[in-house]
Amino acid sequence: MLHRLFTRRISSTHRAGKRFLSASQAAQPASSANIIRGNSEFTDPQRYFEDDDKTGIVVTLKDKKDALEKALGVFDKYGVSLSHIQSKPSKLCEKSKAYDFYLDFERPFTDMCIRNVISDLSKISKNFTIADPSEVSCFPTSFYDLDKTGKKILSEGDGIHEADHPGFRDEEYKKRRDFISELALKYEMNDKEIPRVEYTDAEVGVWQHCYSKFKKNYTTGAVKEFNEGLAQMEKYCGFSEDNIPQLEDISQYLISKTGWRIRPVGGQLSQRDFLNCLAFKVFPSSQYVRHHLVPEYTPEPDVIHEVMGHVPMFANEHYADLSQMIGLASLGCPDHYLSRLGTLYWFTIEFGLCMEAGKRKAYGAGILSSFGEFDWCFSQDRNAPKFFPFDCEEIAENHGGFPNSSVQPYYFISESWEDARKKIGEYCDSIPRPFNVSYNEETQTIEVDRKIKGSY
Ligand SMILES: [Fe+2]
Repeated sequence: MLHRLFTRRISSTHRAGKRFLSASQAAQPASSANIIRGNSEFTDPQRYFEDDDKTGIVVTLKDKKDALEKALGVFDKYGVSLSHIQSKPSKLCEKSKAYDFYLDFERPFTDMCIRNVISDLSKISKNFTIADPSEVSCFPTSFYDLDKTGKKILSEGDGIHEADHPGFRDEEYKKRRDFISELALKYEMNDKEIPRVEYTDAEVGVWQHCYSKFKKNYTTGAVKEFNEGLAQMEKYCGFSEDNIPQLEDISQYLISKTGWRIRPVGGQLSQRDFLNCLAFKVFPSSQYVRHHLVPEYTPEPDVIHEVMGHVPMFANEHYADLSQMIGLASLGCPDHYLSRLGTLYWFTIEFGLCMEAGKRKAYGAGILSSFGEFDWCFSQDRNAPKFFPFDCEEIAENHGGFPNSSVQPYYFISESWEDARKKIGEYCDSIPRPFNVSYNEETQTIEVDRKIKGSY
């Protein structure tokens, strides 16, 4: 039985790409363990931790009154002090209730008394693994670290490379877009204001075209909270048919309402950089406007997508929490988990649908800022898209290959967006990381329960 459990554990962690050692491997001589660690993609396996002599262990214990007490007694017996303890319901033993305990102690894995601890623990636990911290990537921990993030756009003009799009051939448009991007690239997090853009008549014309049509869609297809947020934007942030709102005004309002702010960016960020910003309650937003010849389509996120699609929901504290949860989970998480978080983000924040009073409604920005996507996902046509119930594991594991330049072939509908938020929270909690993070709003820093070596 124990062997089967180890096999399952190794299999699941291998799938996740996480390097854990099974109990039998952990009991091997240090040289063998070092060989396993030597497979790490990093040349210096623990370079991100100051405490090189710290070891992390995951112990699975039955949900019994004295189970934890017995396990902790083993550490007492060998005089090993724990520096961190955290528990999560175990996925390993679905039928019989059990918990995974993440324990850190200030001794190297090679220490002889740790071998004794491991040997004793193996007799009382359903499973245990040694967590190798070598896969931890460095990540921003200060609000001001986002200055570096905001300047790393994927590549200049990356979003308008579609040769059949008018923006690709229009030199004047590209010059204008670059000018607005440059304003964002110069922006620093401690600047007094986000630069205001004086939009041209052509740009305002594109906005006008979109604004009135979007509002019609919202009355029938957007969740209640989106319409409430939009009403606030119209009242306090300059949203109107004739005016493209300024990011500065939106940001000031959001700061007072939910603590979120906007950070202007000059183009698309990498998935990791983008998600990392959300941890700090910062939403990266472009400021340029799509090409006037194709006002209903843009090959890249423009200010219309950002402020019409995303911003109204950020006025709702609980919805904003959903974005921050994904952001916090993205900090230092392994690449394969990052792409799963990106997929969850895609099918919720971008293309999320949910039920509201028995009707299907949209809360995803990609639907609410696109005429084609909106019509498609609410179409009664028999060729219309497929709809599936919202399931985090299913989405994250099996739907990473979504299209990003055409309408979605399928959507996931949750009971409500709060239900999606709850399930994503549980998914984020289940991501194995050898440390925990939280955001301190007062100091605008990420607090990590292990010291990170070096600077971001
Ligand atoms: Fe978006």
